[in-house]
Amino acid sequence: MTLKLQDIDPEVDFPALTRCLFESYEDPPQKFFHVFFPIHGTGVEAREEAIIEAAERLKLWHTYDTTSYWQKVVDTETGRIVGGALWNIYEENPFANPQPPTVTWFPLGGSRTFVEKALENHARPRSKAAQRPHTYLFIIFTHPDYQRRGVGQQFIDWGIKKSNEMGVDIYLDSTPYGRRLYEVNGFEYVEENVNIPVTENPDDAWREIEERVGPFTFWLMRRSVGGRC
Ligand SMILES: CC(C)(COP(=O)(O)OP(=O)(O)OC[C@H]1O[C@@H](n2cnc3c(N)ncnc32)[C@H](O)[C@@H]1OP(=O)(O)O)[C@@H](O)C(=O)NCCC(=O)NCCS
Repeated sequence: MTLKLQDIDPEVDFPALTRCLFESYEDPPQKFFHVFFPIHGTGVEAREEAIIEAAERLKLWHTYDTTSYWQKVVDTETGRIVGGALWNIYEENPFANPQPPTVTWFPLGGSRTFVEKALENHARPRSKAAQRPHTYLFIIFTHPDYQRRGVGQQFIDWGIKKSNEMGVDIYLDSTPYGRRLYEVNGFEYVEENVNIPVTENPDDAWREIEERVGPFTFWLMRRSVGGRC
């Protein structure tokens, strides 16, 4: 079996890439995923609608964000996409003019406010630590059927090479499942980020999403330019 790293074709790949993304974060389930990619409702149909919405949104983000660089790993025997990575290549400080997040994927009200605060909390450690050009590994996933076969490593190898060529550090916010991959590649911990959005006036929608997502923890990690490995 050959697992090959390729750039995506944005006209074709987002539906399959997004399905792989969902399957990677569902097994085992990661509660925070709902913040970025919600399933509104229950059952198979709601999940399918969520994948379609997410694929369209990821394509839009990619189209209008000049820093966006998407890659995939393909099983060349079957043509199946088995993993993906979204890098932001920042040639300038992205935090020079901070903008609040625009959350279109939740309806107006408590759930949207919760997610806006969660995204602000998520970005805060990096917005302090990385006020300079850098690369950011925003999303990385390998389908559970293909994990521990070097797929994640292929994305990281590419990112290290690219970042060293640019002379910049790599940053990422790690889930509990990503930490080992980054540790073995010379990433260091910058800050633990326990994300607990707060409000003085929670409505039912706020309470519902708070219950569903709970506090979630990420670790901001950095690999310094020219670091070991
Ligand atoms: C994190 C993730 C992308 C790793 O992808 P992967 O393709 O399985 O990683 P690789 O096979 O390239 O791993 C390379 C090395 O990293 C380390 N590593 C990766 N996953 C590991 C794990 N679960 N436990 C221990 N070490 C691990 C190992 O040293 C591994 O080398 P080895 O298999 O020869 O021992 C994958 O587990 C995943 O998609 N998880 C769900 C989504 C997620 O949480 N993404 C991370 C967001 S920060």
